[in-house]
Amino acid sequence: MCGIIGILGNSPAVPRLMESLRRLEYRGYDSAGVATLDDGILDRRRAPGKLSALDAALASEPLAGNSGIGHTRWATHGQPTVTNAHPHMTDTVAVVHNGIIENFKSLKAELTAKAVSFEGETDTEVVTRLITQYLAEGLSPRDAFQTTLGRLQGAFALCVLISGNDDLMFGAREGSPLVVGLGTGENYLGSDAMALASLSNRLIYLEEGDWVEVTRNEVKTFDRNNNPVKRAGTISQVAATMIDKGNHRHFMQKEIFEQPTVVAQVLGRYLDPNAGTINLPDMPFDLATVPKITLVACGTSFYAAQVARYWIEKIARVPVEVDIASEFRYRDPVYQDGGLAIFISQSGETMDTLAALRHAKDAGQHIAVIVNVTGSSMAREADLVMPIHAGPEIGVASTKAFTCQLAVLAAFSVALAKAKGQIDDDAVTAYVSELERTPKLMAQILAGDEEIAAIAAKISNARDILFVGRGIHFPIAMEGALKLKEISYIHAEGYAAGELKHGPIALIDENVPVIGIAPNDALAEKTVSNLQEIMARKGKVVLFSDDAAANHEGMLAHFTMPSGGDLITPILYALPVQLLSYHAAVEKGTDVDMPRNLAKSVTVE
Ligand code: F6R
Repeated sequence: MCGIIGILGNSPAVPRLMESLRRLEYRGYDSAGVATLDDGILDRRRAPGKLSALDAALASEPLAGNSGIGHTRWATHGQPTVTNAHPHMTDTVAVVHNGIIENFKSLKAELTAKAVSFEGETDTEVVTRLITQYLAEGLSPRDAFQTTLGRLQGAFALCVLISGNDDLMFGAREGSPLVVGLGTGENYLGSDAMALASLSNRLIYLEEGDWVEVTRNEVKTFDRNNNPVKRAGTISQVAATMIDKGNHRHFMQKEIFEQPTVVAQVLGRYLDPNAGTINLPDMPFDLATVPKITLVACGTSFYAAQVARYWIEKIARVPVEVDIASEFRYRDPVYQDGGLAIFISQSGETMDTLAALRHAKDAGQHIAVIVNVTGSSMAREADLVMPIHAGPEIGVASTKAFTCQLAVLAAFSVALAKAKGQIDDDAVTAYVSELERTPKLMAQILAGDEEIAAIAAKISNARDILFVGRGIHFPIAMEGALKLKEISYIHAEGYAAGELKHGPIALIDENVPVIGIAPNDALAEKTVSNLQEIMARKGKVVLFSDDAAANHEGMLAHFTMPSGGDLITPILYALPVQLLSYHAAVEKGTDVDMPRNLAKSVTVE
């Protein structure tokens, strides 16, 4: 992952680089750094940890210069120390990099044999040293950069400055995103539209293998064979204003509470309540003839895919295969002719998911994506884009993107069922009115925030917590466990309630809280008996259910949910587990919005 930014400007670069890095911090926050060119001389500041540490370093030792590059790091090779922080620099070259140089060991060995010494352990340093070496051998800056690119294997987005060249910056894209921003007498490079939002909305998305030679007045683009190419420009819709937390303590809290609004917004795009119909974007293929759906995603987006499997199978009766993106393409999946592969991703940049998308595309599948970032790589490579319209999600733990993904997937499942002739117009209208109730019911659940905070206080000292659910709520149990572990660092697992007795029940004692997701549906009784089995073994049960008549005796706590129809319950039950995790993390005093070791956009495999 990592975020990169480059500016060839006409005013001091550092404040502008820092503004862009703040927008990129979601991509990683293990360390950060900037380098500037001032009168042809390169200099840099780097600091481990969050951007505030770099701010402090720059305050005590400022950097001048109107050109600069910056980086926020999610560590891959080498610990998050100052030495391993980017920019990597020699006297002549400064480099920031997002991705992994896979052949860095052999390149390092080759350079070491030529008595080139290395400062740190990162893969990126070979890029800096190679360019430096080629310049020393007399190559022009362009030839040195181009020759270096030819030596690299792996995934990279690069941004490079060269001493003595105040009006020159190079960039390259291979497997990691890089966008050109066009200014007036200035030009920029950045990992995404968000990084460039305060600088320009006139963007050029580079294609795989492209590299650019940028000056203040010109951007020359070349393809991987070094042929000059023209790439289309686009106007970014990303707002230049920094998103703030409003009255909330954390972005995650704000995003949890935004859900009734954003889910209403996304449903407004996909439903026509007056006609009682679903409006999907124009289809470049015929849904009625799709023989199989493949759903692929990572993390929370994968749990959205798992929920969707239940909807699609039950309502549309179409075979569905679901997999984690990092596993999918390596197991040689069996595609069906005319099959539709749907990739779900908040960022649209997750490398595992993008690679799986390309695998399915090469195999001739129809490609649809469900993304939040509509200018993302996935959106640009898909046949069909179904945006989730959640607005920027800043908290690293995904919340509103999840429920908006579910809203789109629910609408899609109903539309597919109709296209397949499995349901009639009246059934579609009934589903539409059920979906329409979602935002109001979500608001009712959020009104129970304090009650859930009190439950969180009871479990936040636990070392292990299990989440259980059945059927379509099993993925919600897994999502609850993921949310809890990533922000509170409490070990948590999600299980199918019926599976506990096949092993995991051995973990249960009086110190292990078990969170039951048990809406009053066809499987409720069975889930409740599983919870009784836990209580019989002294397990502490917390129940989320809309069954007013449920027996709560012996439970640690319970929270009464509003009742929704079968279609929307998984969307509703996502909320209490988000709130529970949020409050448990607040109790524990962790960094809720930027939990350790994580990043919002995972652009390495
Ligand atoms: C968890 C979380 C991650 C992401 C995963 C996929 O809260 O945010 O598990 O869901 O990294 O990211 P996207 O959806 O951007 O592909």
